[in-house]
Amino acid sequence: MTTAISWQEEIRRLAQERDAVILAHNYQEPAIQDVADHVGDSLALSRIAASTDASTIVFCGVHFMAETAKLLSPDKTVLIPTAQAGCSLADTIDADQLRAWKAEHPDAVVVAYVNTSAAVKAEADVCCTSSNAVEVVNSIPADRPILFLPDQFLGAHVRRQTGRDNIEVWMGECHVHAGISAADLRAQVAADPEAEVLVHPECGCASSAIWLAGVGDLPSERTHILSTAGMLDTARGLTAKTALVATEIGMLHQLRKVNQRTTFLPVNPKASCRFMKMITPELLVRCLRQGRDEIQLPPEVVERARRSVERMVAIGK
Ligand code: 13P
Ligand code: SF4
Repeated sequence: MTTAISWQEEIRRLAQERDAVILAHNYQEPAIQDVADHVGDSLALSRIAASTDASTIVFCGVHFMAETAKLLSPDKTVLIPTAQAGCSLADTIDADQLRAWKAEHPDAVVVAYVNTSAAVKAEADVCCTSSNAVEVVNSIPADRPILFLPDQFLGAHVRRQTGRDNIEVWMGECHVHAGISAADLRAQVAADPEAEVLVHPECGCASSAIWLAGVGDLPSERTHILSTAGMLDTARGLTAKTALVATEIGMLHQLRKVNQRTTFLPVNPKASCRFMKMITPELLVRCLRQGRDEIQLPPEVVERARRSVERMVAIGK
């Protein structure tokens, strides 16, 4: 007699058979997060990808994240359940556009958010994530001009935090975070004036959150501009009844896991990334069974892009 096994058991069995580690970004569907070996933000997952002993890395996230894992572990097999999982922010700049921008600013240091293609990273000096963007920029001598790309809202956040005025910012945006507006935030805060407010710096409302806090419309001591990893750290210590969360809604799963005292509510419940949600249990099973889709990068890109990512990973170690 055979006993049916669940899809989760099948995934664990296949992962073991393939010697694979499964990484899932905080924005994945809860079921994918729960079956993964590690869940985290882009920086944490990059670090795990760089240090894992497994011979295969299965990246449940979007394409640039799997590419970053491949850059850090070029000898390992890196798989993503579907190569169609792109990123609207990464698509706002390509390598030709960056070369043209650099030509206009030949003395500048180029800081690229990890939400970029490997070809763009190859043209950058150093990468950053939303967790370490301020630290990375602070590591650059104050008199050196900086080109920061591709997210305009994260760029504005970095300018504010570092107090530097020699940062040129690419005017890209993520359609999900740009869609979380100041009006959404204001309406939610008005409905729940005692709530803590957690805002990802990619959000359209991040600058407004600072401004609203400045004029007293938001409680400045309860307004936190944070990466997804920063949100989790802050959430652990919250005692408030509710927290309003301005980022992709997948994040709520981990927040609710780390703190059951506080009710975490999305500032915009429609803020769902269709690229992140392309990763399904069916595609994860297919990925582990058939070894697809495999990330492959041209060697000349790998060499140069890896340097930018490794410089980032080394900062703050
Ligand atoms: P983190 O860098 O906080 O993981 O978020 C980046 C992001 O928006 C991924 O899409
Ligand atoms: Fe890209 Fe935005 Fe989706 Fe993140 S949430 S993967 S930045 S489109």
